Amino acid sequence: MDMIYVPAFILLFLICFCKSDDRLTPTKPLSPGDRLISDGGIFALGFFSLKNSSANSYVGIWYNQIPERTYVWVANRDSPITSSSSGKFVVTNNSDLVLLDSKGSTLWTTSNNITSEAAGTAAILLDTGNLVIRLSNGTDIWQSFHYPTDTLLPNMTTPLSSKNKLYRPFVAWRGPDDLSTGDYSSGSDSSLVPQVFIWNGTRPYWRRAAWTAALVNNVYQRNTGAFMFETIERRGAEFYITYTVSNGSPNMLAKLHYTGMVKVLTWNSKSSSWDVFMEYPSHGCDSYASCGPFGYCDGTEAIPTCKCLDGFESAGLNYSLGCQRKKELKCDGTYSFITLSGMKTPDKFLYIRNRSFDQCAEECRSNCSCNAYAYANLSSLGSLDTVGDSSRCLVWMGELVDTGKPASGASENLYLRISSSSANEKKIVILKIVLPAVACLLVLTCIYLGCKSRGKRRRKGQSTHMLKHLNAYKLGNEDTELPSVGFDEILTATNNFSDYNMLGKGGFGKVYKGILEDGMEVAVKRLSMGSGQGIEEFKNEVVLIAKLQHRNLARLLGYCIHEDEKLLIYEYLPNRSLDAFLFDATKNFMLDWLSRFMVIKGIARGLLYLHQDSRLTVIHRDLKASNILLDAQMSPKISDFGMARIFGGNEQQANTNRVVGTYGYMSPEYAMEGYFSVKSDTYSFGVLLLEIVSGLRISSPHLTMDFPNLIAYAWSLWVDENTRELVDRLVVESCPLDDVLRCVHIGLLCVQDHPNARPPMSSIVFMLENETALLPAPKKPTYFSLRNHEAEDWRKYMERSENNMSITTLEGR
Ligand SMILES: *[C@@H]1O[C@H](CO)[C@@H](O)[C@H](O)[C@H]1NC(C)=O
Ligand SMILES: *[C@@H]1O[C@H](CO)[C@@H](O)[C@H](O)[C@H]1NC(C)=O
Ligand SMILES: *[C@@H]1O[C@H](CO)[C@@H](O)[C@H](O)[C@H]1NC(C)=O
Ligand SMILES: *[C@@H]1O[C@H](CO)[C@@H](O)[C@H](O)[C@H]1NC(C)=O
Ligand SMILES: *[C@@H]1O[C@H](CO)[C@@H](O)[C@H](O)[C@H]1NC(C)=O
Ligand SMILES: *[C@@H]1O[C@H](CO)[C@@H](O)[C@H](O)[C@H]1NC(C)=O
Ligand SMILES: *[C@@H]1O[C@H](CO)[C@@H](O)[C@H](O)[C@H]1NC(C)=O
Ligand SMILES: *[C@@H]1O[C@H](CO)[C@@H](O)[C@H](O)[C@H]1NC(C)=O
Ligand SMILES: *[C@@H]1O[C@H](CO)[C@@H](O)[C@H](O)[C@H]1NC(C)=O
Ligand SMILES: *[C@@H]1O[C@H](CO)[C@@H](O)[C@H](O)[C@H]1NC(C)=O
Repeated sequence: MDMIYVPAFILLFLICFCKSDDRLTPTKPLSPGDRLISDGGIFALGFFSLKNSSANSYVGIWYNQIPERTYVWVANRDSPITSSSSGKFVVTNNSDLVLLDSKGSTLWTTSNNITSEAAGTAAILLDTGNLVIRLSNGTDIWQSFHYPTDTLLPNMTTPLSSKNKLYRPFVAWRGPDDLSTGDYSSGSDSSLVPQVFIWNGTRPYWRRAAWTAALVNNVYQRNTGAFMFETIERRGAEFYITYTVSNGSPNMLAKLHYTGMVKVLTWNSKSSSWDVFMEYPSHGCDSYASCGPFGYCDGTEAIPTCKCLDGFESAGLNYSLGCQRKKELKCDGTYSFITLSGMKTPDKFLYIRNRSFDQCAEECRSNCSCNAYAYANLSSLGSLDTVGDSSRCLVWMGELVDTGKPASGASENLYLRISSSSANEKKIVILKIVLPAVACLLVLTCIYLGCKSRGKRRRKGQSTHMLKHLNAYKLGNEDTELPSVGFDEILTATNNFSDYNMLGKGGFGKVYKGILEDGMEVAVKRLSMGSGQGIEEFKNEVVLIAKLQHRNLARLLGYCIHEDEKLLIYEYLPNRSLDAFLFDATKNFMLDWLSRFMVIKGIARGLLYLHQDSRLTVIHRDLKASNILLDAQMSPKISDFGMARIFGGNEQQANTNRVVGTYGYMSPEYAMEGYFSVKSDTYSFGVLLLEIVSGLRISSPHLTMDFPNLIAYAWSLWVDENTRELVDRLVVESCPLDDVLRCVHIGLLCVQDHPNARPPMSSIVFMLENETALLPAPKKPTYFSLRNHEAEDWRKYMERSENNMSITTLEGR
């Protein structure tokens, strides 16, 4: 009986302990250990301490049902209770909330000072996470949403102008374990056309462009079913912004992180962690004015980079000084305005009221110190000020700073003044330089092709260029012209797909070397018949792939459709594939550390481009050493992305019942559940990275008996702080050990079991290129630590259960 009695007692005790209400009244204060729980059980309010400073305690609000304690509001962040056992949070007879320490002195208080209705006054924690002081007649006289700390919650309405008396900026924590007021803050500026800023102290750190009509009722959408709506609302002369989420969405919040980044997070109940939905600044040159005056950050590049606005050139070796005009502007009418579309407008504008577009343009034209203008009609907002004016004419009289060209999201036209003589000169320059260059190139191409052909086969009349043979074929409505190649020509080129010509095979089919009639060498990919893809789908994909152009991707040159045959024609790279070097004892010495590091970075950049191209998200699904081709300079080119899955801009992941890929490179979630996302590629990249560093195959027979595969081996050495042992003997003497260890570290981050734990390629590229970037500690990859026979069983099971699955097993060549 004792055994039953004791737990029952504890349970009873816990119930008493946790018994909670959603409100405080003058007669019912809150003491340490007590909690307020909102009516629906969503939020909790109480005393708490942070792990590493348990001597200090605070009153705050957190999610009641989320195991990872997440504070959304703190009352006394700068005046903690220093002995954790005491303190009282009370509603006074003056309708104020007060936090008292054990001696009865006030640490924090509101300042309503309304006595009349005191008897019925209560402080209530609502299900939105808002703590309100409500008078007995139902009026809320104070709310915590008007006094935010670092977190914006759905349904929280924030004034857009810092002139509003309700305006209070969000202020980040000082450090990961220090919730006191930090240096970073976020809010809007005081201009009539407000802009959202993150400040580092008093210096701007990031800026969101001035509002355009396009920003109103913006809907951010993600395929998990999490929706976030942004609404800008006008109340009198003031504008307010509210974020809402649709019913049934996961918990969502925006936090000004102590590092200065704004992170929009959604709670992932599967992995029991917060997923990053968006974050700002999103990349290096996204931060404020990082490209200097008259420079701009081009986010449409695979790796966002600084550039100069048209008509400007770099003022120094880097962009710290920004850009300067190529030709000084003269105030004599020799100028013109050019339209830059898709821009994030610069900071420091002058707002001119009540102008039509033409009047706005005239405003800028008529003053020689005006460098640019931009115009928007905000009529959907209601008028911008009380007078009834919905125009938004912005002009820039001085430098243009913090201009950008975002990859997605809000952008508008920027009209830039340039010297018209410089515009003319540009044309002359084109004629002077480009034309002869083109002519030279043509001559050289002809000579080159001529020589090639002579050596290869019987000449057929004049030397010809490949494109002449291929009938340019317009696919669908897209204006991408990709040549269609005749099937007969391909048969000839590949000796009827002879085995002798075969370069390799993968889950999608076989690849052959071909020599076209004019002598051009190509790689022909013959998709397996049962690929299950219709002609239209195939054409669509070809059009999309043709648009993918990056120096680390193999180029698609043409395609062919003939009855059931679908073929893709790629550039041929003489150095073949990475595996032919890496795993060949007679060639691997050619890959020194510098080339290996270059190859790793190149693959990362290529993948980043596939994943984050402005309009498409391409998931490769079969990244492995044999799909990395090397050009004459040993620069890597990802190939075989021909049958990768291409997604629309918003889709990020999918399920398939057709698992294609290569055992060993496949992420656990993809291999087991057919669930894939860009993070499946990250996983394969991690495997590849470990292979490149170690010179060992993922399932290498050379490993010691104790380890089923390379990942388990790498992890074991990592844990033992013996990572040097993993490095290929051929490079270990000559390489900077720090670089190698860093690579292994990144590799282990990529092969973590949970997709969310793996960093996105943007972070990986950053980590690879910044030796000082801090890396998180990797979690133990458990999945592929399965013993050989377990993995074997699993593979057999997969092969039995899925007929239309194609998995390439790795075999030594
Ligand atoms: C807390 O402090 C301990 C040592 O005092 C330190 O090892 C640990 O990393 C700290 N935790 C965090 C989250 O900073
Ligand atoms: C608040 O008012 C109640 C009666 O309205 C009174 O009993 C109580 O003493 C007052 N409390 C304080 C702190 O003045
Ligand atoms: C509250 O108001 C009363 C009278 O209106 C004033 O005497 C008192 O000082 C005020 N208290 C505070 C804390 O401001
Ligand atoms: C936010 O407000 C809307 C409309 O007022 C309401 O329908 C919704 O339930 C609220 N959301 C939360 C999380 O309270
Ligand atoms: C409630 O009482 C307060 C203070 O007495 C007053 O300002 C407010 O107008 C009242 N609200 C309503 C709805 O009566
Ligand atoms: C923020 O400002 C501080 C001091 O001015 C500086 O040391 C720090 O590097 C800045 N942070 C960033 C991210 O620029
Ligand atoms: C940029 O160039 C300036 C001089 O033009 C130099 O002082 C500065 O260190 C350079 N910054 C970087 C990041 O290279
Ligand atoms: C706006 O400008 C027009 C003429 O351009 C003028 O007639 C009108 O009165 C102005 N409105 C305001 C509110 O200034
Ligand atoms: C703005 O747009 C609205 C609706 O499209 C139109 O009626 C109005 O005339 C426009 N205002 C200006 C200043 O162009
Ligand atoms: C041009 O604009 C500048 C800055 O606003 C102003 O000082 C100057 O008077 C203007 N010049 C003319 C001719 O309007």
